[in-house]
Amino acid sequence: MPDSFFSISFDLILLNRPLTYDLYINSSSLQAREKFVKIVHSGDSVSKTDVMVFHGKYHQLYVREAQRSTFLKSMMQLSEPVELPGASPEETLISVDESRPPRVTTIEVRKTTILKNSAIHHLENLFEKEPSTEVLNETITGCRDVVENMIDVLHTYDVDKLRELIANLSFHDFYTFDHSVNVSMYCILIYQTLHPLASRTEIMQAGLAGLLHDLGKIKIPTEIINNSGKLSDLEFKEIQKHPDFGQELLLQSDLSLPEDLNPPLLGKVVCQHHENWDGTGYPRKIAGEQIHEMARITAIADFFDAITTKRSYSEPLSIEDAVALMGKFVGKKLDPKLFQFFVQNTEKIAKKHHSNLTLTDDDFDPCQPHQSLPLAVASQSATVTANAKDIGQVKVLKTDSKVDIGKVKVIEEPKPLQFSFGKVKVLNNDAPNQQTNAGLLKKKSD
Ligand SMILES: [Fe+2]
Ligand SMILES: [Fe+2]
Repeated sequence: MPDSFFSISFDLILLNRPLTYDLYINSSSLQAREKFVKIVHSGDSVSKTDVMVFHGKYHQLYVREAQRSTFLKSMMQLSEPVELPGASPEETLISVDESRPPRVTTIEVRKTTILKNSAIHHLENLFEKEPSTEVLNETITGCRDVVENMIDVLHTYDVDKLRELIANLSFHDFYTFDHSVNVSMYCILIYQTLHPLASRTEIMQAGLAGLLHDLGKIKIPTEIINNSGKLSDLEFKEIQKHPDFGQELLLQSDLSLPEDLNPPLLGKVVCQHHENWDGTGYPRKIAGEQIHEMARITAIADFFDAITTKRSYSEPLSIEDAVALMGKFVGKKLDPKLFQFFVQNTEKIAKKHHSNLTLTDDDFDPCQPHQSLPLAVASQSATVTANAKDIGQVKVLKTDSKVDIGKVKVIEEPKPLQFSFGKVKVLNNDAPNQQTNAGLLKKKSD
């Protein structure tokens, strides 16, 4: 099989140390006649001057696909991108909290972008080709290496900072890939904060299970996976097979995976990521602690990413609204104790943990793309549906309340709301909360 290559940035080469990979250029400008020529051998060092010369002389540098993993490890050792004269100006980092500058740094975003692209490359390979044993081995091993490096990026992160990092990454046009990478990062974060003494291998399994949670979708027709509308009963039945398919793929007896991987554990987590705490999920309808802890973590990561990550077609919820919305599924879809723990790991929880946003679709599937989030604003006697792209578009489900449809103002005085975050009981009777959401709607619809 001919060698394949991937392009790398000039500024992510580790300087003045023996390289662990060979560097190539493509000497042909014609795509059909690509000819890769080695310009630096593994073991040789390059200086900043060398990189500047390469940058002036060549359009792009390449590394052999077989050395992707060693390139990633080497890149992770950089604390700053190499400064190159005349390089395109730095992109402005996005802050998800307008009141302060971004917390993520350029190098973190650059490294994560490469890691994300690598994960997508491996997943894409699997979704495009027949899932042979060889391709599965390559994909799972490659994904394992990506997760290993992600752990290093995320070791000082909290949920808010991770959301900011995700907001600074570009997104792929296939929802499953972006979503899987994000879920993996949330799984790493939740697992390592929940188990501060966990071994790196355990954290890696949690992250890898997150990255592969929708692996079984390679056996589902693409038009169903990409359907961002309401699925028919038949399509839903088909989708419900993906957890089992994923487990089957991971338990194939002829796989030869790195020794630190535990395929039965990964298979179990992949199989259980749609099970609900109250036993209403699928495919087995198991409940509570019958569901593996990593699968319960994946379910939280899955839900949170689906409602907080910006997509081309919809605006995401703020962390506060997302946490409040998910709070309504505690004890139903989500494990109460784990959710409470997750919430404690978000910086903003103290500010607000209640909302009158709710989901209109009981079968909301975080693994599927959605044209708009199926949201509703519920007051005591009226429910107003709103979509996340244009939250000002509303439909009154019950008309026995004073709702100003034009400006979307809910002026009902709410009765006290009571719900529980695991052991923490929140009794909310502050009317301004209703006003907060009404304010949000008004702002978006103006
Ligand atoms: Fe998912
Ligand atoms: Fe899924």
